[in-house]
Amino acid sequence: MKVAVLGAAGGIGQALSLLLKTQLPAGSELALYDVAPVVPGVAVDLSHIPTAVNVKGYGKDDLAPALVGADIVLIPAGVPRKPGMDRSDLFNINAGIVSNLIEAIADNCPDAAIGLITNPVNTTVAIAKRVLEKKGVYNKNKLFGVTTLDVIRAETFVAEIHGKNPAEVQVPVIGGHSGTTILPLLSQTGLDFSDEQIEQLTHRIQNAGTEVVEAKAGGGSATLSMGQAAARFCLSLVKALQGDDSVIECTYVETDGSDALFFAHPVRLGPKGVEEILPYGELSDFEKKAKASMLDGLKNDIQTGLDFVK
Ligand code: NAD
Ligand code: LMR
Repeated sequence: MKVAVLGAAGGIGQALSLLLKTQLPAGSELALYDVAPVVPGVAVDLSHIPTAVNVKGYGKDDLAPALVGADIVLIPAGVPRKPGMDRSDLFNINAGIVSNLIEAIADNCPDAAIGLITNPVNTTVAIAKRVLEKKGVYNKNKLFGVTTLDVIRAETFVAEIHGKNPAEVQVPVIGGHSGTTILPLLSQTGLDFSDEQIEQLTHRIQNAGTEVVEAKAGGGSATLSMGQAAARFCLSLVKALQGDDSVIECTYVETDGSDALFFAHPVRLGPKGVEEILPYGELSDFEKKAKASMLDGLKNDIQTGLDFVK
């Protein structure tokens, strides 16, 4: 497996690359690309860790060689939020960055599975779809918005409330990746919650990104937990691409459009990428109402991305 990380010198990129260097299967290749001049140094630093994963750094003029032969491309390139900003405020800068990187993927590794981390994810994934379509290489089974951070947060917060080991808690999170579009399905955890707990927990999961942005006080957004989330998603994808078609992750993918064109679902991954988009099952009344009230906003975010590429 060759995994390319675009934006590898950033907060997420470095944490993610460290986890991949230590956890990718032996024989894998890790290609680290960034426009920041420190990226060759990040690669040298990681290369001293004794695992059978070959790491190479690529500077700003070397995007093509970083991508050639990649099976998976993860994209955390772009600017993060500061306090007072919404994820959609990042659109003006990040839309162009994502669009250029996706064009290069289309030219150099059109069959790679792409995991988009750059915000606003609700919109950047739609940009990627359009760019790949324009290039004639769009495969909806290989384009993912990485929403795993919402899942690991939900698992952590639910475990805290119930005094459980988070490893034993599973919380599907559907919808999108911002504010009320993030919809944790607490009714499907097999655990009991009061109405008040459901409201508070849902609100905390939806606003957990802002919790980190405010705590970092201008120093950026979640990087370490996001590194962990993206590594979990990538390692699941590696297993799946290598032949295991029983791996399930919640991720933001193109659907039949019954909720919105892109919608995070539990997805069974496999050698083709998406093997099957699984139904999210029966929702509680609270979840039905929450889904109904966020759909217009999510559709709007998606349309903004589709319209960006003319
Ligand atoms: P950061 O500023 O620490 O790092 C971003 C990196 O991207 C920098 O090293 C920068 O040089 C690089 N970069 C910028 N333009 C580039 C280009 N054209 N090609 C390659 N690299 C480029 O930011 P961060 O904290 O790592 O966050 C990155 C993005 O991830 C932000 O948009 C943030 O909002 C998003 N994010 C998403 C999630 C999620 O759940 N999907 C979670 C946290 C953060
Ligand atoms: C998160 O959920 O932590 C990320 O989307 C970053 C942010 O801006 O909140």
